[in-house]
Amino acid sequence: MWDKLWYNASLVDESGTQLTNHAIAVNDSKIAWVGPMEEKLIGNARKTHDCHQRVITPGLIDCHTHLVYAGNRANEFTMRLQGLTYAEIAQAGGGIKSTVKMTRLASEDELLQQALPRLCAMIKQGVTTVEVKSGYGLNACTELKMLRVAKKLENATGMRIKKTFLGAHAIPDEMDADSYIDYLCDDVLPHAYEQELVDAVDIFSESIAFNLAQTEKLLTKAVALGLAIKCHAEQLSDIGASGLAASLGALSCDHLEYISDESLQKMAMHDTVAVLLPGAYYFLKETTPPPITKMRKYGIKMALATDCNPGSSPTTSLSLMMNMACTLFGLTVTEAYQAVTLNAAKALGLSKDIGQLKAGFHADFILWPFTDIAELCYGFGVDYDKQLIVGGTLFSLDSIDSGIK
Ligand code: NIG
Ligand code: FE
Repeated sequence: MWDKLWYNASLVDESGTQLTNHAIAVNDSKIAWVGPMEEKLIGNARKTHDCHQRVITPGLIDCHTHLVYAGNRANEFTMRLQGLTYAEIAQAGGGIKSTVKMTRLASEDELLQQALPRLCAMIKQGVTTVEVKSGYGLNACTELKMLRVAKKLENATGMRIKKTFLGAHAIPDEMDADSYIDYLCDDVLPHAYEQELVDAVDIFSESIAFNLAQTEKLLTKAVALGLAIKCHAEQLSDIGASGLAASLGALSCDHLEYISDESLQKMAMHDTVAVLLPGAYYFLKETTPPPITKMRKYGIKMALATDCNPGSSPTTSLSLMMNMACTLFGLTVTEAYQAVTLNAAKALGLSKDIGQLKAGFHADFILWPFTDIAELCYGFGVDYDKQLIVGGTLFSLDSIDSGIK
């Protein structure tokens, strides 16, 4: 006997294939069974739902966000429209550092109140797992404050939040880059780790941020603590950070517009996920897209995320990212689907728990109002009327209208 059964559904499997006339059974918070619909199944469940052949996908996963920050950078948008570049604004003391100033000043509660509506907007799009990075503190006090807010977001909404330590997001004015990396390795990361505030460690490796030696030092420290690692790599230029991070065992390397063949090969060899961020590409008016054809050739798994942040991607819409990945980067609907489900789960080290409709996986899934999976990528700026099933239970979207469950 199952608790619940959704039947006459078009389930999307890990290859992106729609399995029509299928059913999915749930016990407690887990998927108990998935298979072809038969009339007799209806008697096997206490509660049943006829899906009328509408599409069911796993709950979507946004595997790269900077969701927690204070204020915004609309003024820099105006500056960029006047011709300044992202790097020029950063070098002139704006960019990440201006969000750092505002985030240091904000209280933990203010940060939570500013981040919650963004998370709620994501949930309304069918996102049930979100990765949240620190990185607008650049000192122990504020980095830990951001990570505590990320943890509170989980309790406030009931969604799954993965917390990534991105202390190495920019070089603070108070220190040089080498001393700052030492400070992160010796003082900040160990504390965040002891307080169970970190699932993974990330670094912005770039000519305007941290170099290869600094990247290696921090990521090696993270690995020694038993933490997963990730890297913002090759976003504005190629410094070989993705190859290095992959060799150290990174779950993912993110951005990758300027990645070299050599680094692509290393990512393939270590099965590192390529996280594509079309929002930042679009917003910064980049013209070199990530090398999708080569990623396919090397068999690199691709994920997609919003990169939600105030500087390079002020969006909460994973649905828009799917559309952009298809139109701007040339992904197929199947690739875009896999990029926000199983591959995004892999980028977070959650491949065995979420991102697929299989027995034993968490019962996080979305019942969409359409019967063709292509509609997931086709509409942009469109809000579909959907049902979220989170941990086997119908999630009330109205309950998050007020911000808190
Ligand atoms: O992923 N590249 C570095 N970090 C962010 C931008 C953060 C910001 O500008 O505030 C990104 O694009
Ligand atoms: Fe980012």
